[in-house]
Amino acid sequence: MTKTIAILTGGGDCPGLNAVIRGVVRSSILQHGWRVIGIRDGFDGLVNGPDVVDLDLNAVRGILPRGGTILGTSNRGNPFAYPVERNGSMVLEDVSERVLENFKTLGADALIVVGGDGSLKIAGQFGQMGMPVVGVPKTIDNDLSSTDVTFGFTTAVEIVTEALDRLHSTAESHHRVMVVEVMGRDAGWIALHAGIAGSADVILIPEIPFQVEEVCDAIRRRRETGSRFSIVVVAEGAKSASGEKVVQVGAKENLGVERLGGIAHSLARKIEACSGMEVRVVVLGHVQRGGTPCAFDRILSSRFGVKAVELVADGAFNRMVALRGSVLVAVPIAEAVGQLNLVDSAGELVRTAESLGIMLGRQKVLDAVGLKQ
Ligand code: F6P
Repeated sequence: MTKTIAILTGGGDCPGLNAVIRGVVRSSILQHGWRVIGIRDGFDGLVNGPDVVDLDLNAVRGILPRGGTILGTSNRGNPFAYPVERNGSMVLEDVSERVLENFKTLGADALIVVGGDGSLKIAGQFGQMGMPVVGVPKTIDNDLSSTDVTFGFTTAVEIVTEALDRLHSTAESHHRVMVVEVMGRDAGWIALHAGIAGSADVILIPEIPFQVEEVCDAIRRRRETGSRFSIVVVAEGAKSASGEKVVQVGAKENLGVERLGGIAHSLARKIEACSGMEVRVVVLGHVQRGGTPCAFDRILSSRFGVKAVELVADGAFNRMVALRGSVLVAVPIAEAVGQLNLVDSAGELVRTAESLGIMLGRQKVLDAVGLKQ
């Protein structure tokens, strides 16, 4: 029987979104003869509208290597707390019933939601209300549990690693400390992976509150032993043991979502003061989310798209596709969004970094080998 599948992309953009859309469209049409429609700008396209576009084979031609999402996205349109203007000020209202009504008018048999923790939580809530939803895990932060990895993460790590390789030139030539701020709101996966791959000297992540003194010590010690430069990678959500996260715009002023950023500048001032060295800051920001997905993410995204269509064919709703080892599985959305996938501060990857002599903002390696004075 012919079906109509709707798909939306929600949350921050991420390399591989278009590859998922292409996977969904091609397998729906080529394997099942189904119709696919795309909803524009995440859940916004169901709140207002519905705002949809037909996705045939022509619509997805050539999009596999393209960054961003041809459907558009939004990371502020939660239908259960939707920003609306009332008497000149913005308030948050529940418009979920309107979304359900608009979805019904589409006559779609399923909705595939490609998103991170926020969008998948929303999908799970609509699933509870009877909407036939399937989730696909997206985020460069890799902070979704129930899957070994999210698509987009590997590309972001490649981008940051290349940046660290390039920044070594200036750091070494000018005998400077380079403080590189990367994304990672709650989880330090990007900082940790790229920091190891890009030979950082210090890596600071949200899961390990850091001591500024330890960071200074590590930099001074490197200088004393002949390395007149240092590379510090800091995740935007990292915080010192005595301090708070550095927030650019608070949740209240930003419709419930904290905008992070600025930790590198605040850290740079402290490092300059304690080491007397010249310090420069590089904030990689949305560069990490942009551009073409790497081969791994193109393949993973394509597999996720095809698997999501299989779940629709099987009527396996309220599930998210996930990678376990080398195999794709389906997990309940509620389980996937229950808790974030954070770096284990005592885990193998952290221990590897510390064994390599990378300082993670806490005194450990130097004490262990008796180098700390
Ligand atoms: O969730 C992914 C992420 O890249 C976070 O690390 C970051 O805090 C956030 O998106 C920034 O989103 P935007 O600036 O697009 O609102």
